[in-house]
Amino acid sequence: MSEPLLSVDDIGRSFGGFKALEGITASFEPNKVTAVIGPNGAGKSTFFNVLSGVLTPTSGRISFKGADLTGTPQHRFVHLGIARSYQITNIFPLLTVHENVRVAAQALRSRYDIWSHRGRLHELDEKADAALNAVGLQGRRNTTAKFLAHGQQRALEIAVALVADPELLLLDEPTAGMGPEETKDMVALIERLAAQRTILLVEHKMKMILGLSDRILVLHHGRLIADGSPQHIQADPEVRRVYLGQSHGYA
Ligand SMILES: Nc1ncnc2c1ncn2[C@@H]1O[C@H](COP(=O)(O)OP(=O)(O)OP(=O)(O)O)[C@@H](O)[C@H]1O
Ligand SMILES: [Mg+2]
Repeated sequence: MSEPLLSVDDIGRSFGGFKALEGITASFEPNKVTAVIGPNGAGKSTFFNVLSGVLTPTSGRISFKGADLTGTPQHRFVHLGIARSYQITNIFPLLTVHENVRVAAQALRSRYDIWSHRGRLHELDEKADAALNAVGLQGRRNTTAKFLAHGQQRALEIAVALVADPELLLLDEPTAGMGPEETKDMVALIERLAAQRTILLVEHKMKMILGLSDRILVLHHGRLIADGSPQHIQADPEVRRVYLGQSHGYA
């Protein structure tokens, strides 16, 4: 096993007295796709919030490329190489596709570089175009974001995350609300992105996860109940029991 890119050691997160995450320990090798699955309310989004700095863990430690990130402010995460997309679509609907990505590129830079030269502004445009290119949206660059199809809006959110050129990309239900065709396109996009970076994704679509993932983590009531290859997870009796009778089925 190569040196882990990301490690979490005994991570917990409580809200008041409620433990949304408890005792999560795992390491992630670079350039792999890992799916995080589990029933509704299992703690998947909370886990991603902790991994992306949105929430500080109430216990345990996170390290990324060997550096301790526990308690690091959220804006630092993206500079260090961790970017994410959200479960609920999160774009500026009245800006164009290109503007959405450009704003993200600018936000990354402005705190260090208030007096931007024309040349630098051009650089931001190019960065935004490269991110749109990576998700196949360059042809829609001047479209107002609200007019995009749902699947394209989800791809745009990924472009926004890509402007930081992250080594670790966290995708929270990237195919939420998509039909089979859009899901197929998203799977192809994730496969392309995975060639150059480490991806963690939360998903409910089991067939997709089994085909796409190198590894699967299963959360249930905030605890990690299984961690292994798709074959291992499919055969795990506890995972089967947890999924039995769930609306998101295990087929
Ligand atoms: N900010 C918060 N304050 C209080 N409780 C929270 C907060 N965020 C999450 N929770 C609770 O923590 C638990 C885990 O929520 P989380 O959103 O992580 O689940 P999930 O696995 O992503 O579920 P879903 O599949 O429905 O998206 C839930 O019981 C939720 O109500
Ligand atoms: Mg969630």
